[in-house]
Amino acid sequence: MLAVIGLVGLMAIEARAQTAATLSTGTRSTGTRSTGTPSTGTPDVGATIAQKGNAPGAAPCTTCHGVRGEGNAAIGAPRLAGLGASYIVEQLDAFADKQRENAIMLPIAQALPVAERAAVAAHFSRLPPPEAGVPGTAGGNLGAKLALRGRWSEKLPGCEQCHGPEGMGVGAVFPPLAGLPAHYIEAQLRAWKIAARPPGPLGLMAAVAGRLSNDDITAVAAYFASIGVAPQTGGIKAGAIKSGVVRGTTP
Ligand code: HEC
Ligand code: HEC
Repeated sequence: MLAVIGLVGLMAIEARAQTAATLSTGTRSTGTRSTGTPSTGTPDVGATIAQKGNAPGAAPCTTCHGVRGEGNAAIGAPRLAGLGASYIVEQLDAFADKQRENAIMLPIAQALPVAERAAVAAHFSRLPPPEAGVPGTAGGNLGAKLALRGRWSEKLPGCEQCHGPEGMGVGAVFPPLAGLPAHYIEAQLRAWKIAARPPGPLGLMAAVAGRLSNDDITAVAAYFASIGVAPQTGGIKAGAIKSGVVRGTTP
């Protein structure tokens, strides 16, 4: 058993360099997995869906994810701005077919035809990501240690070896962690442990999460959540988002 875990660990670490080199360079595509007509891949269609939803009933994304895709910690909606288009499409596909289990995103993703998933993904991938963050202040020694150095005795690399300095994300494949809601980060790590979220590229996160205890998860989630990201201008106020959520979920 230990040998198997060790092997997976080594594979994951070797694969990291490979994925970083081959997958995350210049892959901010405009949703090439879409099989729809070329015009549906344009950011304009995506922007319209983001702000107004679509006819089959997908709620406007900005209601929960913020007008600039900056996310909303109060309701556990992660940032979408600057994520890789292919990553966003993969998540929408996974929500729609329940490989990634989430009651809020399930009906929204299912209401998006495949071509519209590509269009809205292209839109959010083009919005500017947040500015560089400052080091985390929560999560104690354990959180910082896992984030920065990992636990090599268990073949666990530091999170920032894949997710970049201060968890700012690397290319289109390694999403940012900085400033994500702690509860959201915890939920994702637990989801990988019970296969309620697809294992992702090369099963890297399933392998990482499998080596984290409950205490580890709490500490490292607090660490990344406490990384300050430069506030985005023009965001809507919490009250507006909350009332918007009511509209979005009970049309
Ligand atoms: C009613 C609120 C709400 C609306 C409207 C909404 N979302 Fe979400 N979205 C969420 C929540 C909450 C999550 C976190 C799900 C989880 O915990 O797995 C999420 C997660 C996501 C993720 C995963 C991001 C990641 O980093 O893995 C994507 C992609 C996404 N939403 C895209 C969209 C798009 C595109 C739209 C518009 C078509 C949209 N969402 C509309 C609430 C919403
Ligand atoms: C070997 C590389 C690697 C390491 C080390 C790593 N990650 Fe990841 N992580 C990934 C990849 C790849 C993804 C994208 C998964 C997908 O596409 O579904 C990811 C995604 C995530 C996400 C989902 C973000 C979102 O927006 O939904 C979270 C949360 C996360 N990682 C947390 C961590 C934490 C915490 C650590 C350290 C304990 C860590 N990761 C270490 C490669 C790594």
